[in-house]
Amino acid sequence: MILEAKNIYKTYFSETFLGRRSDRVKALSGINFSVKKGEILGLVGESGSGKSTLGRIICGLDKPTGGEVKWSGKKWSPKKSKKCSAQMIFQNPAGSLNPKLTVGYALREALAAGAGLRPGRIKNDKIRNILSKVGLEKINIKNYPYQFSGGQQQRIAIARALALKPELLVCDEPVSALDISIQAQVINLIKKINKEEGLTIIFIAHDIEAVNIVSHNIIVMNKGKIVEKGPAGQIVGNPENDYTKKLISAVPVNPYYK
Ligand SMILES: Nc1ncnc2c1ncn2[C@@H]1O[C@H](COP(=O)(O)OP(=O)(O)OP(=O)(O)O)[C@@H](O)[C@H]1O
Ligand SMILES: [Mg+2]
Repeated sequence: MILEAKNIYKTYFSETFLGRRSDRVKALSGINFSVKKGEILGLVGESGSGKSTLGRIICGLDKPTGGEVKWSGKKWSPKKSKKCSAQMIFQNPAGSLNPKLTVGYALREALAAGAGLRPGRIKNDKIRNILSKVGLEKINIKNYPYQFSGGQQQRIAIARALALKPELLVCDEPVSALDISIQAQVINLIKKINKEEGLTIIFIAHDIEAVNIVSHNIIVMNKGKIVEKGPAGQIVGNPENDYTKKLISAVPVNPYYK
């Protein structure tokens, strides 16, 4: 097991104007699961079920209220670990790309950080090589993110994450903002990276069809709890839980998925 989430709780407090704690939102209530090296785990559930909260906690971008995240059996604290163990890809690629940096500059910095070298030591062919992994070998690396399409930006964000050599990639709704014909391409890219690089991936989406195409195993979340988990074929082909059945019947059909 590369990653274990043990009894994770997350409660958000919204403060009143006097600074008193008032409303509580129980975003996560006792989440337990583990991920094997090289696995793609799908996290699916409706809006507000706690998927992004869980993704952020796994990546160390947010602290759990209770429970712990273990990496290779050791408790993980992002502050103590210098190595970039987990990287996150967001729905909007702007969340991971700095608009003020050219693509070449951003990738050079990420490759340098991943290799523990100074950026000046990273040659252009290394940048081309990482771009070829996401199908963008021919782009002009002197361009800025806004000069690329949404699908290209998401590919660049994935290239940047790969350059940092993470042990785990968490993709939070990575295709939801893209045109449906582009969604299938990015989904296939994520599968290819898992196969070719052996990278462990958590794929978060509200669309159970997309999650089924990508994932080996699926976790279904509802209101901060896991309601069902198992191999993708079993969860989608033979769901036991009523909530899972509801998600399956609500799926919009994407003709580009195969
Ligand atoms: N920073 C925050 N402060 C307060 N409440 C929050 C915060 N982030 C999330 N929440 C609440 O926690 C719950 C879970 O939110 P989360 O974003 O994890 O859901 P999600 O499954 O990712 O939803 P979506 O599919 O819409 O992205 C929601 O009720 C949300 O309103
Ligand atoms: Mg979310």
